[in-house]
Amino acid sequence: MLKILLLNGPNLGRLGKREPAVYGRATLADVERSVRGRAKACGAKVDSFQSDVEGVLVSKIGGSEGVYDGIIFNPGAYTHTSIALRDALQSVRVPCVEVHLSNTAAREGFRHVSHTAAASLGQIMGFGVLGYELALIAVIDYISSRNGKAANKHNGKGCKVKREKSRGKG
Ligand code: DQA
Repeated sequence: MLKILLLNGPNLGRLGKREPAVYGRATLADVERSVRGRAKACGAKVDSFQSDVEGVLVSKIGGSEGVYDGIIFNPGAYTHTSIALRDALQSVRVPCVEVHLSNTAAREGFRHVSHTAAASLGQIMGFGVLGYELALIAVIDYISSRNGKAANKHNGKGCKVKREKSRGKG
């Protein structure tokens, strides 16, 4: 079973309360629930970790090799400032997909730079909580293709989720 680390940086523990007009009303627990639901359908297991502290996030990433197959990471404001997080991502052979709830490209100029994106497979932003699920699908698809598995569960199409099956039934 694939093990995925869901990693969230500063202020993301305050989701739901924090600037709901920008980040929505979903809490971090809601994010974890939706990612775990999707992961279950993909045959993956998710551990979730949030910290407001840059060094703690660096250590978590540093310790991810050999423990996790992939990382879904919202570095919060550290995205725009942290060379240490970028170096940490680059120091491990664990593929990472960067996520942002908001579309940072449509916000203040200082949010247009991501130091961490270059050390990630790619970025997903602007889709709220769904972005985390999309990141999970992307990282699982990458790992599966790298491992040469065309497993029916890791099909790169969102895996088998009840929600998808029931779509169209009204
Ligand atoms: C964020 C975007 C960052 O610019 C901001 O500092 C955050 C949240 C997002 O998810 O949209 O903390 O990463």
